[in-house]
Amino acid sequence: MIPDSFKQELLHRVDIVDVIGHYVPLKKGGANYLACCPFHTEKTPSFTVSPAKQFYHCFGCGAHGNAISFLIEYQGLGYVEAVKDLAESVGMKMPEFEPRTQKPEGGPDLYEIMERACDYYREQLKVAPRAIEYLKGRGLTGKIAARFGIGYAPDGWQNLESVFPSYADKSLKEAGLVIDPEGGGRRYDRFRDRIMFPILDQRGSVIAFGGRVLGDGEPKYLNSPETALFEKSRELYGLVQARSAIRAAGCVIVVEGYMDVVALAQHGIEYAVATLGTATSPIHVQKLLRQTDEVVFCFDGDAAGRKAAWHALEVSLSCLADNKTVRFLFLPPEHDPDSFVRNRGAGAFEKGLGEARPLSEFLLEELKSRGDLATAEGRSRVVHEAKPLLQKVSAPTLKLQLLKALADAAGVTQEEAARLTEIRISRGHDSKPAPLQGAERGAQLAERKPERTLLQCLLSKPAYAKEIAAELVDHDSFEGRAILMVAEFCREHPNADGNLVVDHFRETELKVLLESSQAALLDTRFGEEQTGAEFSGAVERLQERQKRKRHDALIAKKDRTPEEHAEMLELTGQLTGLKKSSVSSQHIAIISGSRSTP
Ligand code: UTP
Ligand code: MN
Repeated sequence: MIPDSFKQELLHRVDIVDVIGHYVPLKKGGANYLACCPFHTEKTPSFTVSPAKQFYHCFGCGAHGNAISFLIEYQGLGYVEAVKDLAESVGMKMPEFEPRTQKPEGGPDLYEIMERACDYYREQLKVAPRAIEYLKGRGLTGKIAARFGIGYAPDGWQNLESVFPSYADKSLKEAGLVIDPEGGGRRYDRFRDRIMFPILDQRGSVIAFGGRVLGDGEPKYLNSPETALFEKSRELYGLVQARSAIRAAGCVIVVEGYMDVVALAQHGIEYAVATLGTATSPIHVQKLLRQTDEVVFCFDGDAAGRKAAWHALEVSLSCLADNKTVRFLFLPPEHDPDSFVRNRGAGAFEKGLGEARPLSEFLLEELKSRGDLATAEGRSRVVHEAKPLLQKVSAPTLKLQLLKALADAAGVTQEEAARLTEIRISRGHDSKPAPLQGAERGAQLAERKPERTLLQCLLSKPAYAKEIAAELVDHDSFEGRAILMVAEFCREHPNADGNLVVDHFRETELKVLLESSQAALLDTRFGEEQTGAEFSGAVERLQERQKRKRHDALIAKKDRTPEEHAEMLELTGQLTGLKKSSVSSQHIAIISGSRSTP
């Protein structure tokens, strides 16, 4: 874990306006800076950056955070990487720290196990001439093999026994490295006599493996099962290695196979990633579009490749913004990216990339191929099939363009096409976020709850933590518990500011509550002078609520002691003195006037 003190100093040193301004054009608007949100599509800016409070908030989509979280979200960096990048930008040296102290519940750390296995496989490759020959035969140099951490799992059933202190440990199974035969019998290694491709997460930790047979054999690739560390549909092979090249190229290529990624890198095309034997998922597309403006899907030229491309198109429709491009590169049917780049060279591949078909073109071509445009029936079929697809598109300009093209293809006017696909084209207006409803609206009204205000004050000035009496807050409410936790953290970290607090709880259930509470600080009632009044107002309301509770309890009590009775009268006096706005205070007035003393 990176020490909090370092994070805090870093957050003080960097200016979030510089950090964000580097990627997103910011305009000054009052005390804050504004921009069109980089995390969702919009035409009027609702993305706000506060130089005074050093956080950003989008009133449209709720994106929220500090300079570190911006880099994580925008650049797709891991937490540590984001901190490192920021630290470098202001000339701070990263401290030494324990890479990962949180282990999955008990037991040895699965990450450590995977890393150890990976090291072992890499060592084994060095002494396996057959495996080395295989890789060489596929055109790979040692340098590229090292870049991808490629290894070799030797033949034999229990090789890992010599690698781990206890081969029987259940965590080896949880890591997906061994298999316990059904119906008992000796445990054995999952990967035997295979070339090993480690799969890394965004932080660069090994979370799974893909293992290829050296020649022919089934299955060609054996992958790790899904584990606590590995969820196939979220991960992309080669992303960590490709990251800086993606940035430099301004684009990322998505291919189907491990070997495609590796072979492209071998030929100097380092900005390719692969899905892991699964169809492209929305998470994949979102992850990539956060890091770059252009995604090029490059699938095999065969029927299966075309089908995979169509699926990728369907998934991309809802993820696209108008400033993002998705294109498709179809290779000749006999090739995959690996064989193509080896046969024809990087130049030919990059030339192909330049000519890759935009999503709109692929979409229309495919639709047109499904209906005979010479007949009225064929044309209406095209419109019919386009309807669910166009409805998925959220990027307004793209939507309009697709509609226009569809209208042309189907021989109808644009208005007719819009009517037939039930698409409303907004004219010159931005699609404003829908008005808050139901729960969300409730949440907004609840913001004036004293607990909410208290939380906001704490995030504005963590020093208030010392002035909050634990017995004042409602321990049974979520907000109440949040206050107690936040206050405790603030007392333990007297130098923490609101950003560090939100950052500290970023992976807990308090995340959303703290983010929305911090966002409320953009309101003028949390200006430099007003916060004190907000705080004492909230504390007074909590004190009043507590008195009422005590008063209600005393009234309900049958046999009050004389002391309790005196206390009750005292409270009645105090509470009737307070403004009689709530139901409960009217209640007190009536009861106290109608009940005789015992
Ligand atoms: P391909 O069959 O296209 O293999 O599978 P490839 O990448 O061209 O492999 P080489 O060039 O023969 O070595 C594409 C991807 O599908 C998954 C793997 O992720 C593979 O990279 N796959 C394929 C499996 O998971 N298991 C298999 O048996 C085959
Ligand atoms: Mn191949």
